[in-house]
This record gives sequence, C-alpha cells and structure tokens, in this order.
Amino acid sequence: MATLSFKTLDALQPKGRKVLLRADLNVPVRDGQITDLTRIERLAPTIRELADKGARVIVVSHFDRPKGQRVPAMSLEPMASALGKTLGRPVRFAEDCIGPVAEQAVAAMQDGDVLVLENTRFHAGEEKNDPDLSKALAALADDYVNDAFSAAHRAHASTEGVARFLPSFAGRLMEAELNALNIALENPTRPVGAIVGGAKISTKLDLIGNLLDKVDILIIGGAMANTFLAAKGVGVGKSLQEADMHDTARAIMEKAASKGCEIILPVDAVTATEFRADPPTKTVPVDAVPADAMILDAGPETVRLLTEKIVGLKTLVWNGPLGAFELHPFDNATNLLAAEVARRTQAGQLTSVAGGGDTVSALRHAGVADEMSYTSTAGGAFLEWLEGKTLPGIQALSELSERILPL
Ligand code: 3PG
Ligand code: MG
Repeated sequence: MATLSFKTLDALQPKGRKVLLRADLNVPVRDGQITDLTRIERLAPTIRELADKGARVIVVSHFDRPKGQRVPAMSLEPMASALGKTLGRPVRFAEDCIGPVAEQAVAAMQDGDVLVLENTRFHAGEEKNDPDLSKALAALADDYVNDAFSAAHRAHASTEGVARFLPSFAGRLMEAELNALNIALENPTRPVGAIVGGAKISTKLDLIGNLLDKVDILIIGGAMANTFLAAKGVGVGKSLQEADMHDTARAIMEKAASKGCEIILPVDAVTATEFRADPPTKTVPVDAVPADAMILDAGPETVRLLTEKIVGLKTLVWNGPLGAFELHPFDNATNLLAAEVARRTQAGQLTSVAGGGDTVSALRHAGVADEMSYTSTAGGAFLEWLEGKTLPGIQALSELSERILPL
C-alpha cells in the first residue's frame, strides 16, 4: 500500500486524558491457558508510555470469533490479568466494552490507570463496523490510539469506525510494524528478496503478484514450490500440489521473467512415503522424486543455493516455512536458513522482516524469532500488506483521511 502519514504518540500529550487503546489481545489459548504472550509483551511499551505520561488507558480488543454473542469462554478477563502481570501494575477489567458498566469503570479511573474492557466482538456491531458501536466506544474517551496492526485488515467498529470520531494516533507497536514493512517493501535497500512458503499458491496469488513488482529475488518454498515444479513438467510423486494451478504458476514465472525478478525453486528435496515424524527419508534431486514419495522439505543443495542467494541481498521479507516444519526432520531446511538469516542480520549485513501465520512459529521453533530485524505480530494483516492492500485500520489512522465527526 502507499505510504501514508500518521500521528504517533509523539504528537499526543495524554496527561489527564482518557485514551481508548485498540490492542490485539487475540492471543493463542489452549485449555483456557494463554500459550504465547508475544502480543501482550509487544503491546506493553505503549501502555507504559501512556500511563507514565498520566493517561487513563482504556484498552479494547477482540478475542476469537464470538459472532456478536456473549461467550464466557471468549472473555478478555484472563488477558487483562496477563497484561497486569506483564506490566507489573494493576489492570482493572470491565465486563462490557460500552454502556453503563464500561462508563462507570472509566469514571472511576485516575491518571495513570489501566482498564481492559470486555471483548468487542460480544457486540454484533463490531464486525459490522456499526457507527453506533464506534460512537459508543468513542464516547468513553478523548483520544484513540490504535496499536493493533495485526487486526488492521478488519474494518470493524473498534479498528476503523471509531477513528472517525476521535483524534487518532498510531501506538508504538503499530508504528514499529509500519516502519518495518516500509523498510522491507516500500523503500527497501536493494537487492531485496522474499521467501514465500506455505501449502498453496491459490491462497498467495495476490501476494506473489505484488511481490514480483517489488523484489529482485523470490524464493518459493513449502508445498507451493511443488506446484511450480510440476508446472515445469517435473514429476513430484505424491507431493501435495495444486494440479489446477499449473497455468497460473507458469504465468507467474513468465511475469517474473519479464520483470527481471528471479524466481528460485528447490533443486533437491527430502522425501518420504508417509506423512509423520521421523519416517524413513530419501534425499533426491527434484527431478528424481520417487513416484510413491512426497516432498516434505527442501534438501541440502537447496539450502546451499538459498544461502548463497541471501548473501547477495540487503533486505529480505520472509513469509512461510520451506518444509513441513512441524514434523521432525522436515524442519531442517527452515531451521538452517533461518539461522543463516539471523546470523547475517545480527552481523548487520541484512535487514530481515518476518511475519504472517506459521512463519513466526517456524522461526521461534528455529530459535531465531528474536534475531530478525523485525518479527511481526500479525498473521492475516501481514499477508494483506504483502498483497499490497490498503488495510482499513491503517487508512483510518492516516492523517490524509483524518476528519473528526461529531459524536
Ligand atoms: C489475528 O489474530 O489474525 C487478528 O487478531 C485478527 O483476528 P481475526 O482473524 O479473527 O479477525
Ligand atoms: Mg486470524
């Protein structure tokens, strides 16, 4: 998307003001326990800054997909207490995000207090971007800060609509995400490359199309690479691939060639006849995959080739693993390449930005998620940005679109 301009927290003097902070507390939960605090930890600096400057910080977020119903298992109360622990300061919780319960909780706040309001998606108006809900949220506060880049692809009442009714600012996490993507894709130091992995071309067509215009090298990994290989007439055995996407894959390769973007596919593969951890494997050149086997990871020659290619890059965007990294030993190529990217990044030779879906878990699994120049907290929003889309939550924050409506 085009570079837009924003007000950041530098432009906000929040002392004594009620600040509605849109966070993304949609954290992974298993059996009622939060399994990953990354989003909460990355949000904390914005809250600390606001509270330390004397704001009354009113945090709103969605969690999961309750579809306009009050679903007790989707309450934000556990996230409020996790936030309190992360911040090391008291965080109060109110059982509704609008109406008397929210209003009373806000009225009881002192400067520097932090309050978390209940799941915005308990109201059907959230996903409908209902102006009544936006106005009710806006009525609680003096200013709006959006720190939820990872929810900015949703045009919802708390991510988009509310920005029409309050002076609006990007929080520190939002600012960092936008800066990283800008550095990676809008104004990169060249040569710039991208690694795109994952299962299906069909879900990443727009993304690949946009990247072809922006990057010098496009590394294709994961099962998606099988479709490209098959489209070139290479036998891929029983590998996961999309037979109906061969024409599309060929068109992508032609477009890349005409734009001078080099597409790099695996040259060898680790194969197995069963999809499980630690099956017997065979490593073969990609044109020698046994008819009864599946490609489950890139092989050592591919890792060598990709390592060489990365040495030539100044900037790298990474989305998607190279193999079935959840199953040992098919995490190997992703781990090795991730280690190399981390090493070059730490040595100051490469700017690396990673994000979207499985990518961060794959990098965390490789032990290097914190050694990229930037690791995004976003899944879908990161992908939509890579697709070149305008994210509604970001558009709404932009100074270009700023026009405050009366409540
Ligand atoms: C995410 O986790 O990707 C965001 O919080 C958005 O959630 P959603 O996909 O339910 O809109
Ligand atoms: Mg999602």
